Amino acid sequence: PDNQAFSKLIINWYRDNPRDLPWRDTQDPYIIWLSEIILQQTRVAQGMPYFYKFSEAYPTVKDLAMAPEEEVLRLWQGLGYYSRARNLHFCAKQIWFELGGNFPDNYKDLLKLKGVGSYTASAISSFAFGEAKAVVDGNVFRVLSRFFGIQTDIATGKAKKEFEALANSLIPKENPGEFNQAMMDFGSRQCTPRNPDCEACPLNGSCFAFKNDLIQVLPIKIKK
Ligand code: ADE
Repeated sequence: PDNQAFSKLIINWYRDNPRDLPWRDTQDPYIIWLSEIILQQTRVAQGMPYFYKFSEAYPTVKDLAMAPEEEVLRLWQGLGYYSRARNLHFCAKQIWFELGGNFPDNYKDLLKLKGVGSYTASAISSFAFGEAKAVVDGNVFRVLSRFFGIQTDIATGKAKKEFEALANSLIPKENPGEFNQAMMDFGSRQCTPRNPDCEACPLNGSCFAFKNDLIQVLPIKIKK
């Protein structure tokens, strides 16, 4: 299957099946960062009320920087992994007091923020700044391994490198953020881990796993 065809199919699927998510209405890197930190280790439905709470209580990075730590942690109650809230607050203060309030505006600088790894830096830089950096997580491993027939054990560092290189070769220079959003939604709603509805999938014509009856087999994950 060719790469351009994949990107087109994914984007077309997304244009027909977009999730209406509040953090998709903005290009403000601070708001996008807030949403991505909340969504680490958290499902969309669970994260949503926290996103509204935080973006209303702290609409700008300055508001978060000025907030007392205990208040930030109180608002975070129920979400778990409190280091996320501490890192949010720490970074907001750093951005406000040390970076003159200028939010980092590219992948490399975003990666320097505490609590921001390659997935989150790719999400923010593509959504807010149009940088063509692909997000790679379990959803992306699954979609790409099935469509392209990649059999590398996804629990390995080799796989991460391989899938990152592939995803970065697939992401279009135009609207890279839309491609990342499409991958997130396609992985969570169409190309699901168990019992995906492949008959209804517009990618099934060139999907390696579908054509070779390997949907239940891919992605390969060897438990250690
Ligand atoms: N999970 C992580 N980031 C997300 C986003 N921006 N939209 C939906 N789900 C996500």
